[in-house]
Amino acid sequence: MGRIVYCNGVFTPEEDARISIFDRGFLFGDAIYEVTAVIAGRLIDNDLHLDRFERSLAALSIPMPVPRPELEHIQFELMARNALMEGTIYLQVSRGEADRDFVYPAGLKPNFIAFTQAKKLADTPAQRNGIAVNLARDLRWARRDIKTAMLLGQVLAKHEARAKGYDDVWMVEDGLVTEGSSSTAFIITADNQVVTRPNSQSTLPGCTRKAVLRLCETHGLHFEERAFTPAEAQAATEAFVTSASSFVTPVVRIGEVAIGDGRPGPLTCRLQAYYIEAALGSVPVSPA
Ligand code: PDD
Repeated sequence: MGRIVYCNGVFTPEEDARISIFDRGFLFGDAIYEVTAVIAGRLIDNDLHLDRFERSLAALSIPMPVPRPELEHIQFELMARNALMEGTIYLQVSRGEADRDFVYPAGLKPNFIAFTQAKKLADTPAQRNGIAVNLARDLRWARRDIKTAMLLGQVLAKHEARAKGYDDVWMVEDGLVTEGSSSTAFIITADNQVVTRPNSQSTLPGCTRKAVLRLCETHGLHFEERAFTPAEAQAATEAFVTSASSFVTPVVRIGEVAIGDGRPGPLTCRLQAYYIEAALGSVPVSPA
């Protein structure tokens, strides 16, 4: 049975949802998206995701398509109609549709779509065994702090990584790791410092990153926000990535080099457990 999706005010079977070929998201990547995880029928870190959604839209001067409470209602409604217990909810708002022109006319009506994806997110093989990441040049534009639907740099980098037998990729710019194709990169140094890049226009400010740094504080783990080189990452005792769809996932190989003993590290596993515990303990239960 197909999904029920949301398209411009209507809940409809996925095969009936339609957007114009003149949608600027389709023609120019002129659109913002957001992904929130669902586990045990609960939205995880949703306030952080909706804050970022509003910020990204404002950065492109695209109005919020509906007020925030209605947006949350749409998320809950999609979860209920699709009986989603574990997976993700995707939101996308494009600037709207107009005849193709780089300059957009005033007063466009944004196109707003949303859908669920059922998938196992917690206790996955990747989380248990760790992943291998390729290193590749970061080919993206200069405003990666805005979560736009313009993802070709990541698509090509991850595709190449998979073709070479890796699970994912860490992108590199000016000799420093920026981030994963759809995740934040972390390393842990020999003196047990959890290290990740500071937020800037070079990377997406990850919601899971924020939650994990808070957990470091809560549990007395030392962390440092600074950039690191691929060589430092390869010499690290542990490494991991965070995202809404992977939570805390150990990285056990970077390029040709095994990290630590090539198995998920103990601090990473602790953070992974803290994250799941916090996510399941602190979020409102869906009214569905
Ligand atoms: N991507 N960096 C990039 C480039 C990302 O695309 C993502 C998330 C993250 C992690 O952000 P968060 O912790 O807020 O999910 C970092 C989502 C999962 C996606 O595109 O599907």
